[in-house]
Amino acid sequence: MIGKLNHVAIVVPDLTAASDLYKRVLGATVSRPVELPEHGVTTVFVELPNSKIELLHPLGAESPIMKFLQNNPAGGIHHLCYEVADIKTAAEQLHKHGMRILGDGKPKIGAHDKPVLFLHPKDFCGALIELEQI
Ligand code: CO
Repeated sequence: MIGKLNHVAIVVPDLTAASDLYKRVLGATVSRPVELPEHGVTTVFVELPNSKIELLHPLGAESPIMKFLQNNPAGGIHHLCYEVADIKTAAEQLHKHGMRILGDGKPKIGAHDKPVLFLHPKDFCGALIELEQI
């Protein structure tokens, strides 16, 4: 079921500083910031040869990552995203194994216009897992 690692998401307190760090210190290719009001985040993508790093910063007071940043003021790893070929089949299989899907349990259109779902960290070794249909 599980495919490639699509991205690792890191919540950062300062998107410009974090972008600079990846660009200047690590020499990575870094995107411009993209505001996603419907997801309550501003994102910057760092392109790696085999994956991506998603730098996330809260957008608006209702941002779903605001609490995470308050609890981790220096920033921190927020989630890992694995690719799946068919998210409905993946969701069914996860339900069968008693895994909890966050929200109403159904895939949603994610930040990259692709169907995604998030799995409860308590079911996955303390890590928030995103599955994205590619
Ligand atoms: Co993500």
